[in-house]
Amino acid sequence: MTWSDLDWNALDRLRERFLRGTADSGAYWETADDLAAYDLTFGERIGWKWDHVLRELRLRGWQPGGRRRLKTVLDWGCGSGVASRRVVEFFGPESFESLTVWDHSPLAADFATEATRRAFPKLDVSQATPGFLSAIEVVGLLVVSHVLNELPPEELDALRLLAKRAEAILWVEPGTHEISRKLGTLREELRASGFRVLAPCTHENECPMFAIGNERHWCHFFAPPPSEIFADSNWVKFGHRAGIDLRSLPYAFIALDRQALPGVAPESDPAQGMSPAAEPGDEVTEPLPDLSRIIGRPEHFKPYARWLNCDAAGLTELELPTRSDPGLYKQLERTKAPLVYRWRRDGHKVLAGQPVAESG
Ligand SMILES: C[S@@+](CC[C@H](N)C(=O)[O-])C[C@H]1O[C@@H](n2cnc3c(N)ncnc32)[C@H](O)[C@@H]1O
Repeated sequence: MTWSDLDWNALDRLRERFLRGTADSGAYWETADDLAAYDLTFGERIGWKWDHVLRELRLRGWQPGGRRRLKTVLDWGCGSGVASRRVVEFFGPESFESLTVWDHSPLAADFATEATRRAFPKLDVSQATPGFLSAIEVVGLLVVSHVLNELPPEELDALRLLAKRAEAILWVEPGTHEISRKLGTLREELRASGFRVLAPCTHENECPMFAIGNERHWCHFFAPPPSEIFADSNWVKFGHRAGIDLRSLPYAFIALDRQALPGVAPESDPAQGMSPAAEPGDEVTEPLPDLSRIIGRPEHFKPYARWLNCDAAGLTELELPTRSDPGLYKQLERTKAPLVYRWRRDGHKVLAGQPVAESG
């Protein structure tokens, strides 16, 4: 679908549905054109969030690598399939053997299957069966995107069970207070069941958002939309009609895996069991020490910039006096990279900082 074929009325209806954010009314896709219109607009914006998340994973040194079980991907609540297409595109289709999509709307599952086959003709793409969803076999890389505010408790429980079968999980949601904290609760649960937190956290501790006194905070970030959309009359019309500020793309995410530490032997047959295990060819990523993640984005005032900082010590409001490092002050205002830094600090004052560089 292109902008000229777009059914704006269908988009208006979808927008109403998303704004209600209710978990009660079942499948809402009415035609394949609904999904095509979504994929071009709302879905593309979600794709930009995924691009930012994937960039952060690369910064943090994570990739599916040689791990056999991460060569299979499951996109749960796939909609048009934009999330898994972004993941496959980012790591390269040759990194994966198969992709399974699942949505309680058969229209959505069909659309995602076809769109993914068109994008990656050599990838084995199929739809999940009820048997697969209720089995206990290992799920490789579980991709979940923008589903939390649509799930009644029993559906969320089913997704929880599925998540516990995964070898790795990449989960992106809108960056609202409510949804981000819901995702944070899942982080805690999954961490307790043996997952290692890869990002956005720079530590494995309990999420400090849940510490007493931090109730008003939430873990969220901003993805940069491509700059050309601001001069594109179709995107401008979409922004007006959908009541969306195109500049702002807040999101929350968690990335976890079950990678075992080097030298840890598999506990059971990797083809059958649910136990974590490194495999030959794994790139074992160690957490980088002393790293910080900026929450949200920094606020800039003339004499200083300030932001909410998350690191192994918890949440702290930090300030960078402009004169301490004018270059860093400007960089924090302009960079489009995920805000992962190593600071030199004197208490709450930042004296200097280095962004984490991409390893390749
Ligand atoms: C807002 S859309 C997001 C679609 C896609 N994941 C994305 O990020 O663009 C939410 C999707 O979740 C699906 N969904 C909602 N409840 C579900 C459930 N209980 N089981 C499976 N899919 C569900 C909807 O049909 C819809 O396709």
